[in-house]
Amino acid sequence: MIPTLEVKPLPYTSLPGLSENQLKQHHDVLYGGYVKKVNEIQGKLKDVDLSEANATFSMVRELKLEETFAVDAVKLHEGYFANLGGNGQASGPVLDMINEDYGSYHRWEQDFRAAGMGSRGWVVLAYDLDWNVVHNFSLDAHNFGDIFNAIPLFILDVYEHAYFIDYGTNRKDYISAFMQNANWDYVNGIVEKYGLVNRRKMMKKAA
Ligand SMILES: [Fe+2]
Repeated sequence: MIPTLEVKPLPYTSLPGLSENQLKQHHDVLYGGYVKKVNEIQGKLKDVDLSEANATFSMVRELKLEETFAVDAVKLHEGYFANLGGNGQASGPVLDMINEDYGSYHRWEQDFRAAGMGSRGWVVLAYDLDWNVVHNFSLDAHNFGDIFNAIPLFILDVYEHAYFIDYGTNRKDYISAFMQNANWDYVNGIVEKYGLVNRRKMMKKAA
């Protein structure tokens, strides 16, 4: 069962190029709202009449469908806020993986930024556990475009709510501000947490 969730606090108040108001509304209202909805859905699923399940309309269908929207929204937002607050300088094992799989950091960054301009929801640099590569994935909504067996490493929110207060329609400059605040130490922490460097070595040897 999914545990009862709590809002994770924002580890900073403002960032260069991202105002306190922008971050606070995004964190407290949007992300906080998704946390509440996950808990609400879990509560309703306990009492829903399973015998009425129907793929055109039924409460169980609606709850299970919106559960994916709300859960993905929580996970993606927690990664997004956590991978900000750094100096923007990529380093460590994640940089090695990017260089190996994309040829260079510059090439990867071009791809990541373009994915950000072309997506309606998110861009996620993820480590794929089946192919042992890092790859930029675009998601058009929290629950549209997600990939199984892939660990999100670095997450960019391109929903308008992420930048409209500070940038209006200027998404390009928002993405630049996002990149300047990237917290690659946090990203390398995920690589370490899941043992991805050793996994990659072992899987490449075995291939
Ligand atoms: Fe968001």
